[in-house]
Amino acid sequence: MRIQLIGLGNVGRSLLELLSEEEQKLKVKGLDLKFVSISDSKGTAVNENGLKLSEVLKYKELGWHDCNYYLKGCSAIDAIKDISGDIVVELTPSTINGEPGLSHIKEAFMHKKHVVTANKGPLVVAFKQLKNMALENNVYFLYEATVAAHVPIFCLLSSCFITDEILRVEGIFNATTNFIISEMEKGFSFQEALDKAIKAGWAETNYADDVDGIDAARKVVILANTIYGQDFKLNDVKIEGIRNVEPLIVDAKKQGKRVKLLCEIVKEGDNIILQVCPKMISQDNPFSTVNYGDMAVKFYFKNSQEIFVSAKFVSPRQTAQAVLNDIVTIALNKRCKG
Ligand SMILES: NC(=O)c1ccc[n+]([C@@H]2O[C@H](COP(=O)([O-])OP(=O)(O)OC[C@H]3O[C@@H](n4cnc5c(N)ncnc54)[C@H](OP(=O)(O)O)[C@@H]3O)[C@@H](O)[C@H]2O)c1
Repeated sequence: MRIQLIGLGNVGRSLLELLSEEEQKLKVKGLDLKFVSISDSKGTAVNENGLKLSEVLKYKELGWHDCNYYLKGCSAIDAIKDISGDIVVELTPSTINGEPGLSHIKEAFMHKKHVVTANKGPLVVAFKQLKNMALENNVYFLYEATVAAHVPIFCLLSSCFITDEILRVEGIFNATTNFIISEMEKGFSFQEALDKAIKAGWAETNYADDVDGIDAARKVVILANTIYGQDFKLNDVKIEGIRNVEPLIVDAKKQGKRVKLLCEIVKEGDNIILQVCPKMISQDNPFSTVNYGDMAVKFYFKNSQEIFVSAKFVSPRQTAQAVLNDIVTIALNKRCKG
């Protein structure tokens, strides 16, 4: 499989590190994953026979000046158009208008390339359009890491519960707010907990999307669209963030309860309700065990009943592992189909 990577930040670099370490295991499985181009915001490293990943990581850290295969000014779009590849892995930042990821993914589909992404932006802005393009071009479009990083959600739904009906989904999908609430439950104010989250690397200095519930709502949109085949947008979600959550936490403490920023997708007849909001939960609710940066999802199925999955989230390496799983899924499926 010839892979074209776009984005060499936290997740992109972790992906290359993982692959350098796991190369032998993948070879044993008969998988030969070759990176033929790797783009960042300023150019593209190219080798049609396969780039040496450890070398690329070194150049990215020290600067590309001495690298004779880094084409400065060669954009990701140029790379998709001009270089022969099977899978485009899109790992640029999530933005409100979906760009630059949206254009990258569309270009990949137009060239009949499979796409794997961890980037929420394009899926929130143009879910149905992208799904349709993938279908029309007969290529895979996998995005496990867009919702709750490595918590297995889409792979679970597409393999174990294909014939069941989902009536309701609840989730803790934002690590930053879960960290802040966990600290506030210990008695810290919102501001103190936020400062701790920034210091510990859980929150960025640009934290508004997290604390205002927008990041969690983006994940609700992607999940609801996937489950129900809809084209919901961000403004279809009722959103309340955690800036004013302190009184609820005080109240919950008095009652021996916890507080979580809960994401909810509820099917009521033909109606689908999407919501992100801080909620009081009892100690025997499984979500009460999901603390700090951890994330979880609970599905309420018509026949299988309740399925709860939680995962410890520590670093972008886990996000990268989810991205790698998607890549390997495509490689294995292509091999089966010949
Ligand atoms: N961090 C996580 O664990 C995590 C979890 C779930 C989902 N995600 C999603 O995964 C994606 C990547 O996250 P990250 O933390 O790796 O982001 P990041 O550290 O900000 O890295 C973004 C990368 O994209 C590159 N880039 C930006 N614009 C570009 C363009 N026009 N063409 C080519 N490359 C471009 C940047 O290039 P330069 O290096 O030149 O600046 C950088 O290498 C995001 O959408 C994020 O929301 C991340």
